[in-house]
Amino acid sequence: MYIDYSDRKELGHTGEKISAIGLGTWNIRDSDNMVEAIVKAVELGLDMVDTAEMYGDGSAEETVGRAIRLVGRDNIFITTKIMPDRFRDEHLVFRAVEASLKRLGIKEADLILVHWPVEDISVARMMKIMEKVADKGYTRYIGVSNFQVDHLEEALVNLSKYDIVVNQVRYSVLDKSIEDRLLPYMIRNKITVQAYTPLERGRVVNNKVLIKMGRKYAKTSVQVALNYLISHQYVTTIPKTERVDRVIEYKGALGWRLSEEDLLRLKRL
Ligand SMILES: NC(=O)c1ccc[n+]([C@@H]2O[C@H](COP(=O)([O-])OP(=O)(O)OC[C@H]3O[C@@H](n4cnc5c(N)ncnc54)[C@H](OP(=O)(O)O)[C@@H]3O)[C@@H](O)[C@H]2O)c1
Repeated sequence: MYIDYSDRKELGHTGEKISAIGLGTWNIRDSDNMVEAIVKAVELGLDMVDTAEMYGDGSAEETVGRAIRLVGRDNIFITTKIMPDRFRDEHLVFRAVEASLKRLGIKEADLILVHWPVEDISVARMMKIMEKVADKGYTRYIGVSNFQVDHLEEALVNLSKYDIVVNQVRYSVLDKSIEDRLLPYMIRNKITVQAYTPLERGRVVNNKVLIKMGRKYAKTSVQVALNYLISHQYVTTIPKTERVDRVIEYKGALGWRLSEEDLLRLKRL
């Protein structure tokens, strides 16, 4: 099996590299703690943060905005996501994006994603509007989330100026469903994965196989779980925490790799 040893991953076709591990911001309990966690993450080189207009009804973006002001805009890669219902009306998308940027306190995001596909709005329409969002200078790159192969195919043929650089999808060592079809497709098409819920909301922590394997490397179950993901080409991940000690733990998932034998063992887990 091919093992990707890089801790900064290619962002789609852009030639730009992003941290293999960034921070998620869903379900923030304490905004001050989250700001502190993001600042620590950036200090350790985990300089990518994921948020969405939906998280906490915009309050997660406000929290990320506070962190951006502390670390400096140029030192952090910002992804946010727009709800699909907005795409019924182009103006609603523009209004939503403008509100997100305002909450984040920035003029331009690094990456804006369509949060998920919906039955009654075509992917083609979504892509046309996303290209206009990028044209307007509201984001450097565009992408999608929760798209399957069919959605991606439809997206790729309906873009004229921009590429889809990211598809943010659920992926963890305990939920490897994307490995069958979606991940190979994305690698072939150079679309970067942002793996969400990589810790299964804490469920990986007490997994006996991961704990035991971690002992061999003097690593925790969480570090093994994250290392598994980023060993795959084009895979980055965005575990959420608002605790500085856990940010330090995530950092410890970088700079080494599980052996091929152990990766194959986890594939069968
Ligand atoms: N695009 C989408 O549709 C989508 C869907 C879901 C999530 N996401 C994004 O992906 C991010 C990550 O996914 P997620 O938040 O669903 O789940 P996750 O990252 O798998 O788990 C986060 C949860 O696990 C806890 N945790 C972290 N480290 C831990 C440790 N060492 N021991 C015990 N608990 C630990 C965190 O609590 P503490 O904060 O207390 O550490 C938090 O409650 C989200 O925050 C969001 O940005 C995107």
